[in-house]
Amino acid sequence: MPDLIVTNAALPDGRQGMDIAIVEGRIERIAPGIAAERPGIPTLDAAGYLVSPPFVDAHFHMDATLSLGMPRMNVSGTLLEGIALWGELKPQLTHEGLVERAMRYCDLAVSKGLLAIRSHVDVSDPRLLTAEAMLDVQARVSGYIDLQLVAFPQDGYLRSPGAVELLERSLDMGLNIVGGIPHFERTMADGADSVERLCRIAADRGLPVDMHCDESDDPLSRHVESLAQQTVRFGLQGRVAGSHLTSMHSMDNYYVSKLIPLMAEAQMHVIANPLINITLQGRHDTYPKRRGLTRVPELMAAGLNVVFGQDCMMDPWYGLGTADMTGVASMGLHVAQMTSRAAIRQCFDAVTVNAAKAMGLEGYGLEEGCRGDLVILQAADPAEAIRLSPARLAVVKGGKVISTTLPQISRLDLPGRPNRIDPAEYAPAQKH
Ligand code: FE2
Repeated sequence: MPDLIVTNAALPDGRQGMDIAIVEGRIERIAPGIAAERPGIPTLDAAGYLVSPPFVDAHFHMDATLSLGMPRMNVSGTLLEGIALWGELKPQLTHEGLVERAMRYCDLAVSKGLLAIRSHVDVSDPRLLTAEAMLDVQARVSGYIDLQLVAFPQDGYLRSPGAVELLERSLDMGLNIVGGIPHFERTMADGADSVERLCRIAADRGLPVDMHCDESDDPLSRHVESLAQQTVRFGLQGRVAGSHLTSMHSMDNYYVSKLIPLMAEAQMHVIANPLINITLQGRHDTYPKRRGLTRVPELMAAGLNVVFGQDCMMDPWYGLGTADMTGVASMGLHVAQMTSRAAIRQCFDAVTVNAAKAMGLEGYGLEEGCRGDLVILQAADPAEAIRLSPARLAVVKGGKVISTTLPQISRLDLPGRPNRIDPAEYAPAQKH
């Protein structure tokens, strides 16, 4: 692996003018002036811009991405029409098509500095084509993207015929994580039963759990309680993620005051998906319309690890998206009203370090001894990164530059005014 020194970096913690030495794929040292001490080692000038550890998307559906319009558009825009539409598309899927779309997505992800992704993989179809294709993609991108695959029984673990066996088979094939969708089972009792069975599988196989859980506006959708309880019961603390948890938005406050400590006891990772939650939740409401995002600041304050995921891009559920996790953080910030400087920084963590923690990524971070993976952004600090969704000037993996993007520069030509380059509203305040 090539050695590299990134010079004059601003770090997310506020340190400026730092050099980052990457030796044999790992960050060896972070300090000012390293490049001057070690002539001969290639350098990459960060020019005072923000250098961040790579972005991490802990909740995505790579088997569905870039399938927008296949075989038709989601007219209502609802979760349920999305699931129905995906059901129509499934028989038409091919291995080649799935791999081609996923690889195109991965290229986009790299260009956005997104180097770790946890994808749920629908394992409801008896052919298990999606599992096979995503394992193929996982192998192809393993040199530059940490891709984790969740065995996700989209049509219900107990509700869908054959799902119990298909989930086991997909884990035998090599999927990494046990998924679930308890709110989509036929009854609350079935949902709770599915949570117990799936946690037992995870405990028996030594795997993590990541369930779509309570993606609903129903305040009585309380599967998160079962998930926390079974986590403790099976000794899975710290290895279980609850994705979405949108019903918590609508729950009774007294009940939540009892629930959050149980979730903390389970050391549950909470993965909210702001883009999708704000578009799919509240659909049965007239006015006022609920936002549906789970209780992000309250969960953070209780010490839970809270993450923002992207969930969807150009698929049956969401016809937008860019693989840009700063956009995801921005939506989360707005919906959760996390506008203080400290809260904005927490939102940046939600798409970087928190997400890496939920995925259990080894050697992640901008610390000595961590992997030599980083992103140079055309922004001064994390708040500006969220505000601008800036260009990823360089993406580095193990000391090697794997993507570069030209800086965004606007050139104005206005009557009666001199030409200006790089207007302050687009450029980081102190960088020209
Ligand atoms: Fe999802």
